[in-house]
Amino acid sequence: MNDSALYAQALPPGLVDPDAPLALLGGMTPAAFMRDIWHRKPLLIRQAVPEIVPPVSREALFELADRDEVESRLVTHFRNRWKLEHGPFAAENLPSIKTRQWTLLVQGVNLHNAAAADLMGQFRFVPDARLDDLMISYASDGGGVGPHFDSYDVFLLQVSGRRRWRISSQTKLDLIPDMPLKILADFSAEQEWVLEPGDMLYLPPQYAHDGVAEGECMTCSIGFRAPAYRELAGHFLAWLSETVEENEDLSGRYADPGERAVKHPALLPAGMTKAVTERLKAMQWDSKMVSEFLGTHLSEPKPSVEFPEIPELPARKYAKLAKTHGVVLAPASIALYDRTHFFLNGEAYETPEDLAPWLKQLADHRHLSAKEVSACADLPDLMETFHHWTLEGWLQIAPPAL
Ligand code: SIN
Ligand code: CO
Repeated sequence: MNDSALYAQALPPGLVDPDAPLALLGGMTPAAFMRDIWHRKPLLIRQAVPEIVPPVSREALFELADRDEVESRLVTHFRNRWKLEHGPFAAENLPSIKTRQWTLLVQGVNLHNAAAADLMGQFRFVPDARLDDLMISYASDGGGVGPHFDSYDVFLLQVSGRRRWRISSQTKLDLIPDMPLKILADFSAEQEWVLEPGDMLYLPPQYAHDGVAEGECMTCSIGFRAPAYRELAGHFLAWLSETVEENEDLSGRYADPGERAVKHPALLPAGMTKAVTERLKAMQWDSKMVSEFLGTHLSEPKPSVEFPEIPELPARKYAKLAKTHGVVLAPASIALYDRTHFFLNGEAYETPEDLAPWLKQLADHRHLSAKEVSACADLPDLMETFHHWTLEGWLQIAPPAL
């Protein structure tokens, strides 16, 4: 049981105004960034986050890498040989910080650390459906993961120490075969910079890059997800199969009152193929269904995500706490919505009209203030639903004002 998990550690950051110049983007507005840079070209932003404080210390990062539910990797380049290992890693099993050329990469730090979640929140000018996670890498002097490219956009924010980034627009992206990690066979850098704490580099997908630590350093990668269409199609068909039970057009059973006696018993009857084809056409889909599928699928937490167990809390006591302090989505919760549904952690709720504005507000702001909760508390089902989500560990009580 985890009583402290009932309360959020902090309020989420405010929303980003798409049309206001943003220091994080070097004074560019998010609207201009998305129009001119996103997916198109790299951008170096000096002092994107001035006086940055690393969201976690080196020791706290090593502790995270020792947890079963946290995805971590260790990349070493000892004696000119690349090696990749998957965590968890006990801190004493990591190489010494004095040993050169190794990197520890910890995925999804935003799920476990409020400061990392806050930092990631600053990138919410990109839809949540596209944001993936915040990874933190620690590298000893000379450490890196080798020249490579990623399939996704990434913001590389230097949070401590220095790292030399070399990048290339090369289109030749062949990899060295039979390597434990993706290393470009030919990398020919066109630009290079040393990033200091607070500096940030944005790279579009497929852009070749190589970052090497100069002394020990930590880098945050704010990563995005772009589902492969084939993978989506597989998940969509699985989702669609769950709707079959309710599809009236698919009720009944195949029948063949017109069937004749056959000379070729092994031949599949053409009439059967025709009848089944006709009926399967009833499994049509439209954009509303696709949207419901996407919301459900994209709000599904990664398999490793565990929500904390919350102690039993009577409904009336819960309602009082929620109305007094407000509610906040748990850092690991993924909330999305469309015109008709609210999606939370892989579940779709058809939103009644009077609840919709409040649930949209909760999803966008990841928070409802005490005043807002009090204003909607009496709507049918709302408090019961919030209570249920809280007991699931999906929603928390806002931190009591000090
Ligand atoms: C790193 O942080 O070491 C690697 C990040 C990347 O190149 O994508
Ligand atoms: Co990369």
